[in-house]
Amino acid sequence: MKEWTREERYRALQNPEEIRGLHERIKTSAYRQTYHVQPVTGLSSDPNGFALHQGKWHLCYQWCPWGAVHGLKYWYHVTSPDLLHWTNEGIGLAPDRDYDNKGAHSGSAISVGDALYFYYTGNHRDENWVRTPWTCAAVLNAEGRLEKLDAPLFGPRADHSEHQRDPKVVWNAEQQRYYIFLGAQTLDKRGCVLVYESAQPLSGWRFAGELKVPGYEAFGGMWECPYITRIGGKDLLIFSPQYTTLPGRGNSTNHNVYLLGTMDYEALTFTPDGPYRFLDYGFDFYAAQGAANVGDPEKAILIAWIGLPDNHYPTEAEDWEGSMSLPRELRVVGGRLVQTPIQGVERLRTAELADDGRLPAACELEIAVPAGDFDLALFARADGTGGLTLHYDAASRVCTVDRRAMAKRFNQAVFEVLDVPLETPLRKLRVFIDRSSTEFFFNDGEAAFTTHSYPEADEHRFNHSPAEVKLWTLETSVRDDFVV
Ligand code: FRU
Repeated sequence: MKEWTREERYRALQNPEEIRGLHERIKTSAYRQTYHVQPVTGLSSDPNGFALHQGKWHLCYQWCPWGAVHGLKYWYHVTSPDLLHWTNEGIGLAPDRDYDNKGAHSGSAISVGDALYFYYTGNHRDENWVRTPWTCAAVLNAEGRLEKLDAPLFGPRADHSEHQRDPKVVWNAEQQRYYIFLGAQTLDKRGCVLVYESAQPLSGWRFAGELKVPGYEAFGGMWECPYITRIGGKDLLIFSPQYTTLPGRGNSTNHNVYLLGTMDYEALTFTPDGPYRFLDYGFDFYAAQGAANVGDPEKAILIAWIGLPDNHYPTEAEDWEGSMSLPRELRVVGGRLVQTPIQGVERLRTAELADDGRLPAACELEIAVPAGDFDLALFARADGTGGLTLHYDAASRVCTVDRRAMAKRFNQAVFEVLDVPLETPLRKLRVFIDRSSTEFFFNDGEAAFTTHSYPEADEHRFNHSPAEVKLWTLETSVRDDFVV
């Protein structure tokens, strides 16, 4: 693993030509994705500024140009007409002001009339590396570029730690106000959310208070990337608690959880209906964000970073890492969150193949699982051994996903085997495989499991216990273009 100096990680990109060669080299990797958004070079992490505006989807991702390392972060901008085909637009936000001199960190967007507003964290550090996080804004200009405001909207509060970031903006019609939910940490290192309010999107912001979440006063050390929305008559709060382990998640200290409940904007209280749940049971899923302005009160559209902070992935050696997940739809059915692959994803199918054991590098599998136990091995070798395995135990209704038998192993000390507890028997599996990721959807959206997967040349077969399997190859819908 390469050791990076702070100077190397925090070097500003002066000219796109500095990384053209890097992109040309990375482009030849066997692990470049074909229908998932991925970094043009270097590292992509959190999704940012996700919104539908005037018929076009805007998405940015946290981007460090130089390699698979968390250093100076940019927002890299992509757009899409349909959430399936994405165009690289180039840098969205560069850390080029004093108030964001050490990174344009995560945030969100909201479309209001003709305007698309972006909110992000300006990560300022002084010469002693002391951090001041500023909440900043930008607007989409006539050329389709993000244009920063001259000054931040507000600075950090002294009664919380330096961890105050990732503004999620929402409009609340009842209160006739915009709200910003900011991920934060108390001085005694407990994770929380700070709430700000304003009648105007770009001015007049005032601190409203710390969000009260009964039962979650001491849950993790920092709540990164909060997201809140109302769907199907329920409020949904998603966040990424870190600096803690949670039952069922191995040694990982980074998680992505959700609460369904009721948000009271007057009392600044989110009252959960029940316990927290994992948004995704997989190894690599973090910082999930929903799109703004979806325009349907029954659903949210969510995307996440396939990857985790503090983890290391095999493509690090190739100077890139990370990918966005497939966008997914969230609904609340019978008081439960239901997650399904984005509507219309079937349009990516190019050909239906026979279930003959050959597994294309980018494909979709739909499996009708008969009653009883079930086994599936993806990326198995020619003799049927190895691979990424899934075992369903009908008696306990638990699926166990195990990546230990793959040639390329990674993050072994964090976790390599995880369980997905199901509430109803396994009947159906939808699996989306790209060149370095695998996403499983269980039953009709009861649970999801996302993992990076890096098969070697001889790991392109699959096998399963008796079941009806449909298999399609998928279109390359994300071009690996050099646009910076
Ligand atoms: C989450 C996070 C955010 C922060 C960003 C910096 O992965 O740590 O809290 O804004 O990444 O890249």
